[in-house]
Amino acid sequence: MEPKKIKTIGLLTGGGDAPGLNAIIRAIVKVAIGEYKLRVIGFLNGFGGLIKNQAQELTLDDVVGILPRGGTILGTTNRDSPFHYPVMKEGKKVYVDISDRVFENIAIQEVGALIVIGGDGSLAVAKGLYQKGLPVVGVPKTIDNDLKDTDQTFGFDTALFTATEALDKLHTTAESHHRIMVLEVMGRYAGWIALFAGLAGGADVILIPEIPYDIKKVVDKVNQREQDGKKFSIVVVAEAAKPLGGEIVVKRKVEDSFDPIRLGGIGNMVGEQIEASTGKETRVTVLGHLQRGGSPTAFDRILAIRYGIKAVNMVMEGCFGEMVCLKGNNISSVPFAKSAGDRRQIPLNCDLLLAARQLGVCLGD
Ligand code: F6P
Repeated sequence: MEPKKIKTIGLLTGGGDAPGLNAIIRAIVKVAIGEYKLRVIGFLNGFGGLIKNQAQELTLDDVVGILPRGGTILGTTNRDSPFHYPVMKEGKKVYVDISDRVFENIAIQEVGALIVIGGDGSLAVAKGLYQKGLPVVGVPKTIDNDLKDTDQTFGFDTALFTATEALDKLHTTAESHHRIMVLEVMGRYAGWIALFAGLAGGADVILIPEIPYDIKKVVDKVNQREQDGKKFSIVVVAEAAKPLGGEIVVKRKVEDSFDPIRLGGIGNMVGEQIEASTGKETRVTVLGHLQRGGSPTAFDRILAIRYGIKAVNMVMEGCFGEMVCLKGNNISSVPFAKSAGDRRQIPLNCDLLLAARQLGVCLGD
């Protein structure tokens, strides 16, 4: 459809929620209606709403007061890929491509272009729909900050703030009790939250998936601190951190999810090993979904606003098949072909890894 003829845009939030989703929904609705006089249709619960035609019109009234709210008023899920959709056939679950249904529902809702706000799984689906002929613009969001071709996703800064605050709190109790405190943080296969929060929260050990750790190095660090008169230590462990020659710890598998693997448990493993080797009382905190909740930081709100406005502008310019991105301090876009479905880990030459080493932080190697 020619951009000038677009009268209605569709919008959905997919994958794990992240602080800033409501901020971007508000920005999109305000610009689409206020500046371009468009109608906005919000599909509910990620791609599920597109498949089942569950949608609601979003008006200016619907977005009043949602800027500082965590979560997403549209709901979300990390299941329901229309290209790999579970159905029961002769008593057995099989996966089928039902993407034609998406096109039927887009037509029923008279949607001329779709904005997909999601992580790698949702953006891979967005890319598939674009390749099948749907005018789609993507927006990167995830607390993990692990999407390629953008310097930052919104949600990350808030998760980082939450993890840093947790470390500040753990610090005082660790110091009082002369204990080792281990904090396990999210981030999937990337260590962004662990590294940034570890530095911001003054951790003594930071274990990330990008650098397999040697537990002896961790124990040495704790013992060295003890000899230096520091009777406590703070250890941050990314959920996908793994020992040298070992494997990541999988907590569960969620069938039908974009990525069925759910990580978790490495914090306890590391905590037990430290306690056994140092004899020092060790406690483990798993920060979990607290990192996904709460009011977005000012940075995440601004990033979400900038991404949202850019996405609507791209629709009006007919710039489809691309994802909005941040490069340095500039908002631009990049073709799905390069970005969708890829993951971004911390490069080993990242200046913050060097900074951590120079500060004497043990990275487990
Ligand atoms: O991608 C966001 C994220 O919170 C990851 O950091 C974490 O591994 C995963 O989602 C948890 O997923 P769920 O909400 O399904 O437990």
